[in-house]
Amino acid sequence: MDCSERVLVKYPLFTTAVRRIQECFDSYGTTAEPACCPIVGESGSGKTTIISYFAHLHPRVDHKWGTEQPVLLAKIPARPTVKSLAETLLYKLGDPLWSRGNTVSKSIRLRELLKQCHVRLLALDEFQHFVDVRQANIPNDVADWLKEQVEEAKLAIVVLGLERCLEVLRQNEQLRRRFGANVRVGAFRWENKEERTVYRAFLRAVQEQLSEFTMPVLSDVEMAFRMHYGSFGLIGYTMKIIRGAARLASSRPLREITLETLAQSYAVNVWAERLDCPNPFLDDFDPDKAPPVKIPSRTTAVDPRMHGRHYSTRVELHA
Ligand SMILES: Nc1ncnc2c1ncn2[C@@H]1O[C@H](COP(=O)(O)OP(=O)(O)OP(=O)(O)O)[C@@H](O)[C@H]1O
Ligand SMILES: [Mg+2]
Repeated sequence: MDCSERVLVKYPLFTTAVRRIQECFDSYGTTAEPACCPIVGESGSGKTTIISYFAHLHPRVDHKWGTEQPVLLAKIPARPTVKSLAETLLYKLGDPLWSRGNTVSKSIRLRELLKQCHVRLLALDEFQHFVDVRQANIPNDVADWLKEQVEEAKLAIVVLGLERCLEVLRQNEQLRRRFGANVRVGAFRWENKEERTVYRAFLRAVQEQLSEFTMPVLSDVEMAFRMHYGSFGLIGYTMKIIRGAARLASSRPLREITLETLAQSYAVNVWAERLDCPNPFLDDFDPDKAPPVKIPSRTTAVDPRMHGRHYSTRVELHA
């Protein structure tokens, strides 16, 4: 795997989210009702990366007495039913007979396996699939079934998904009661000084991990602005642009990433989704004239003049 694929930056919200998950994990067996936490954010904001990292810290271990799996991480299947969710969880617990039996026997096997494998934390990614079914219709039978299973096993739960997944908790009073405050991950906003600083620090950390490549200083305010404009400030797009550029540069003698390489990577990986915006890595890109940046999942656009203003401010400060 190319080293750019392995880049992992522990930015402040990443650390906060991991700490919250750890608190939930630690609450298992120590409190009557283990802690639960929702982590929500736009697509590409790094939710799956956060929970995968946590699961990686608490891996499955094969003991003499059997398998220990402290974290059960699963994705909610599209259009979940009790059957498909039970099968997914059984499969993830290594049950070779995951598809065998009716729903009752699957539920019983699941409870047994949760105990046998010493599962402490159930992490459910793509939780918005609960609300995707014909738009706002939540399959409450599945939510109720889920609640029964976790209550029986007294598991801590972390759910991760797009903002709309919170609707499941809003509509299911018993599930909601167990959940603490949301952790929100999302796009870094350029117009917010703190978030802008964190975004630039994120870029610096990425560049440090890619030391075998030469490239313009990504955290410099001008480059950071271009990166932000090209990625909406979302980690997903930011990494797509950088990884794409690294792949292009890998075949070059000096592994050099130039503005042109970034422009090429942007054109291939992102531009198709926003043809009405200029490529921010081209020489003639003008932040003051660029049209508003609009995160695909949001309806409000960010005023480009805001961008321009802050951009100039930072240039002055930086100089
Ligand atoms: N902390 C990080 N450091 C480096 N790269 C990251 C980090 N977080 C996310 N990424 C990269 O950004 C991309 C999107 O991340 P991820 O899949 O975790 O987002 P997501 O919020 O789960 O998106 P979706 O809602 O679409 O599932 C991935 O390629 C991932 O490698
Ligand atoms: Mg994800």
